[in-house]
Amino acid sequence: MPADPSQSSEQAVLCRTEGRVAILTINRPDKLNALNQAVESGMLEHLERLADDDGVGCLVVTGAGEKSFVAGADIGEFEGRSPLEQRQAMAFPRVFDVMADYPKPVVAMIGGFCLGGGCELASSCDLRIASSRARFGQPEINLGLLPGGGGTQRLPRLIGMGQAMKLILTGAMIDAAEALRIGLVDEVVEPEQLEARCLELASEIASKSPVALRLAKEATRAAERLPLGDGLVYERDLFALAFSTEDKVEGVQAFLAKRKPSWKGR
Ligand code: COA
Repeated sequence: MPADPSQSSEQAVLCRTEGRVAILTINRPDKLNALNQAVESGMLEHLERLADDDGVGCLVVTGAGEKSFVAGADIGEFEGRSPLEQRQAMAFPRVFDVMADYPKPVVAMIGGFCLGGGCELASSCDLRIASSRARFGQPEINLGLLPGGGGTQRLPRLIGMGQAMKLILTGAMIDAAEALRIGLVDEVVEPEQLEARCLELASEIASKSPVALRLAKEATRAAERLPLGDGLVYERDLFALAFSTEDKVEGVQAFLAKRKPSWKGR
């Protein structure tokens, strides 16, 4: 299975905007959007640029074509790699971590195969919306491997230890209904409604105060790593920090004056 080193990071990930939503599309449909170096670099370049773009309030991440979201890491790139080369290929910052800690919300739009690194990429997003045709799994065990994009850590936090173990140890694929049942995805819609639903949800999120979104995401993410007591202290501090923003003043005044708020993002 040949890798595709000729593909540039520019071609590997496409970006378009709809209103305040940026849509990043991993663009290797002939390889089921497998994550190669060009895709990872392309994702990181777009994420870095969009973080500072005040016109963008929410991101949607998806894969090109109807068949696949992302079918995992590019297995072709594994062949013949030394451990040191593999370690370098997994050097920080990694796209999974950047998305999880990203200052803006990220929605995964999952139309098809969501496997291995694809499932890890989706797990790093804040919300996962799937087509009823989507299929999920962590099949690395079938290659004599284990998840390497955060799956062993994020999946148990997302769906619980037992369900995560089941996916990771069996490598089995599950359908969208089962993914919804175990909490791996947040909504399942018919394939023809997937894009509209994701854009509707992302647009609604993007209409909120950017600074409040940032603090809310940061506080909620902290639940993954902090014990409850520490997390509650952290939440209190970020809540109090929100009192320093113009958007808090505007939000409260707008409510009391029974008008729509006009956010400044400050
Ligand atoms: N890495 C590199 N190439 C991949 C890939 C991956 N993870 N997943 C799919 N592809 C490529 C296939 O090699 C094939 O390329 P080719 O046309 O040049 O031969 C193309 O994408 C289409 O895939 P194909 O296997 O023919 O489609 P399918 O519908 O028969 O099967 C899957 C789909 C997803 C079941 C199958 O592609 C698969 O098992 N992929 C690997 C999934 C995986 O193990 N991911 C974890 C990697 S760590």
